[in-house]
Amino acid sequence: MTTPPPGQAPDKGPVVAAMFDRIAPRYDRLNRLLSGGVDTAWRREAVREALADDPVRVLDVATGTADLALMLKRARPQADVVGVDFAEAMLAVGRTKVRRAGLELPLLYADALALPFEDGRFDALTVAYGLRNFADVEAGLREMRRVLRTGGRVVVLEFPPPPANLAGRALRWYGRTVMPIIGGWLSGDRTAYAYLPASTEAFLDPDELTRALALAGFDPVRHRLQSFGVSAVHIGVAA
Ligand SMILES: C[S@@+](CC[C@H](N)C(=O)[O-])C[C@H]1O[C@@H](n2cnc3c(N)ncnc32)[C@H](O)[C@@H]1O
Repeated sequence: MTTPPPGQAPDKGPVVAAMFDRIAPRYDRLNRLLSGGVDTAWRREAVREALADDPVRVLDVATGTADLALMLKRARPQADVVGVDFAEAMLAVGRTKVRRAGLELPLLYADALALPFEDGRFDALTVAYGLRNFADVEAGLREMRRVLRTGGRVVVLEFPPPPANLAGRALRWYGRTVMPIIGGWLSGDRTAYAYLPASTEAFLDPDELTRALALAGFDPVRHRLQSFGVSAVHIGVAA
């Protein structure tokens, strides 16, 4: 497989979808292992932010295996939560989890760059570790703004590029060396677990992402670093 280039690339979508389809069966276990289990706390913070204004309709974009969507639904069972993704195998894992949980949570096949919803349909929208995989990040943010009602909240979880300090050097080493070995060994797909940290290194830093959200029509926008900058949560209000 050709490693998809991070950033904007028109042919990136199908390559990314195929990659997540391949790693879907091991994705959850590897997430927990490679983050030392902390990713659950990062997601909990995103759920708190997304539900802060008591939304009725909530969309989780790039929902993958539905970890965040399930947390949203459990936290607010009365809300209509929907997840979308374009990797069918990830959705299949998610649907099994939803069935086992006995929850009503539709998981739909859809491209984040062309969401199958009318303008202003949702009160809150989340995207966790999906944005940096989009073929066109700005178009994805505009699409997210489109399906949110004015005043609705967007919450983005993403891995910022490692900073140029000692901690950043350690993170880069972890991403370039440890992740491909452990991820490759346990998923059977070393290329995927080399792509994931490489895409993080090439992505927007939190200030740049804050500006991109503002340009897409969110105001105000703020962000908080999580675990000393390993992850970051961005919160914007649809203006
Ligand atoms: C790193 S996973 C994150 C999954 C999930 N949100 C989580 O937190 O575990 C990235 C997900 O983004 C999805 N994705 C990337 N680009 C997409 C797009 N344009 N449309 C829909 N899904 C997309 C992938 O299929 C994959 O499931």
